[in-house]
This record gives sequence, structure tokens and C-alpha cells, in this order.
Amino acid sequence: MTRVLSGIQPSGDLHLGNYLGAIRNWAKLQHTTDAFHPVVDLHAVTVPQKPGEIGEATLRMSQMLMAAGLDPQVCTIFVQSHVHEHSECAWLLECTVSFGELSRMTQFKDKSGRQEFVSAGLFTYPALQAADILLYDADEVPVGDDQRQHIELTRDIAERFNSRYGQTFKLPEAVVPAAGARVMDLQHPTNKMSKSLDSPRGTIDLLDDPAAVTRKIKSAVTDSDGEVRYDVAAKPGVSNLLSILAAAGDRAPAELADDYSMYGPLKADTAEAVIELLRPVQARFRELQADPAETSRLLAVGASKAQAVASATLQRARANLGLLTA
Ligand code: TRP
Repeated sequence: MTRVLSGIQPSGDLHLGNYLGAIRNWAKLQHTTDAFHPVVDLHAVTVPQKPGEIGEATLRMSQMLMAAGLDPQVCTIFVQSHVHEHSECAWLLECTVSFGELSRMTQFKDKSGRQEFVSAGLFTYPALQAADILLYDADEVPVGDDQRQHIELTRDIAERFNSRYGQTFKLPEAVVPAAGARVMDLQHPTNKMSKSLDSPRGTIDLLDDPAAVTRKIKSAVTDSDGEVRYDVAAKPGVSNLLSILAAAGDRAPAELADDYSMYGPLKADTAEAVIELLRPVQARFRELQADPAETSRLLAVGASKAQAVASATLQRARANLGLLTA
């Protein structure tokens, strides 16, 4: 069976863009693949955290993933730091990637420009991500376009390790979903909906109540020509609403456009569709939130399934490299 792996940082709550662009696809894939989904808390600590908050955020992100449809009985959901092999393997890979290669990562250049304190961990972040992937012999890594470069680097690191020390790691493939599922910010519809944009009115949180969803969609930026047409370049705001409405149902955005002649009804229907889409996710989240011990139990099961795979791979890497056995 195809092995799929993708991770998510426990920084902030999931929003509609994460859900429609990524998580919903992961939830679908879990039924036809052998899927692993770490909540990557060690990646989150590459930037300073408030003392004590990361654990809470990790639990909450795990519950959101489960609420959004990742079923711990079907796929393997776990916390990255619970499987110590990630850190150990990351060190071996840090020693297999060059300073120059890491310096060329655009995510590092972006992020380091926005930090006052640039940790060494932020710089070596891609080696830890490579460990996440290579430890599981992942065939496919479903990610957004912004992660392509990290997956390419992961392949380069794996190839280099293999050529130095013998066949150890499998080369993964990035799988970037078609552009259709891209959800844009409601206030700035030429930007992707994103936590880092700091646009609370433009971002629909997965846990927003119906009133908030309605308010945000009603105040979404459109344009003044008054025509409902799917045209991302000329009409980004209206096209974004059509994309969201399409993603919430099963019709194409261009086809939906024919049903509307005014923005008001398009917004009302989009709000309604999003509210209905989120309703069951929010109900499951509340259930999980009411029983944190159960989530912890599920995460412990996930960690032990993950560790069984990861420890075998790390062992292979140690042996091929020739580290002295303890
Ligand atoms: N760097 C990824 C992001 O910012 C998160 C991530 C960490 C990841 N480890 C991974 C994604 C492994 C895919 C596979 O979104």
C-alpha cells in the first residue's frame, strides 16, 4: 500500500483554507493509503513559545485533526516529540545536508526575515522535516506548493545518504493538489487564507460559530461590477466565494456562477454551506475536548505505531553509517 506522510504544526487553530486545501484531502486518502500524520511540535519550537503553551496547542491540534476526519483507527496520528527517533534521525540528516543548501530555502529566508531571534533550529528545520518523511519510507507527501522545495531537499538528502552509506532511505514524491482547493483570504482575495497574514476578518476558523461565519462572508471583499462570474484574475473575491461554495458541495465554481446574478444571495448561500460543512466537525471537536484523556490515549497508540516503523529505519541508518552498536 502507498505510504503517505504529512505533518502539521500545532500553531494556532485550523482554518477553512487548511481544511479544504489539505486536511479534507488527508481524510480521504487515509482510506486508500497507509497514512501517517505527525503533529510537529518540534518544528513549532523553532520559534520562541510562551512557557507551557505548546503542549496545550499540540493536544488541541490533534483533536482538530481527528474532528476534521482523520480517524486514529484508520491512519496513524501522533505527536512528533513522542517519537524520539525524529530528533535522532534529524541529526544524521543535518550532517548530510550542506549549509549552502539550507541557506537557499525560501521558507527560511521568509521566516528568518520576520524573526528578531533566528534560532539554529529554524535554519535546520528542513532536516527535521526530512527525518519526519524518511523515517517512514513515505512514498508520497501531500503538501501545499510552498513545501515543494523542502520535499526536493528531502530527496537530495536521502540520495546523498544512500550514496555515501548504502541504500537506506526511500525517495519520496511531493503530491501537490490541483489549484482548485486554494481558499483565499476574504479581505485580501489575492492572498491565500493563512494564519500568518493576521487577518481575522478574512480567515474563517474551523471553530467559528455560525454568526461569525455569516459576518465574515457577508463582509468579504468583492468588486463593483456586480456580475457573478468565475474569473480568478479579474474577480478574485467573487471567484473565491464560488470556490468555497463549490468545495463545500459537489458542483464546479463556473457552473455555480450561472445560478447567481447578485452578490448578496451568493454570499448567503456560501455562508450557509460553510456553516453546514463545519457543524459536524465542531460537534466532534467538542466531544474530544470534553475527554482529553481519551485523546492522549489515542495519541499514545499512534506514537507506538509510528515508533515501530521509525525505530527500524533509524536502526538501518545507524548500521549503514556504521555507528558503534551499544
Ligand atoms: N514544514 C511543513 C509546513 O510548514 C510542516 C511539516 C513538518 C511537514 N514535517 C513535515 C509537512 C513532513 C510534510 C511532511 O507546512
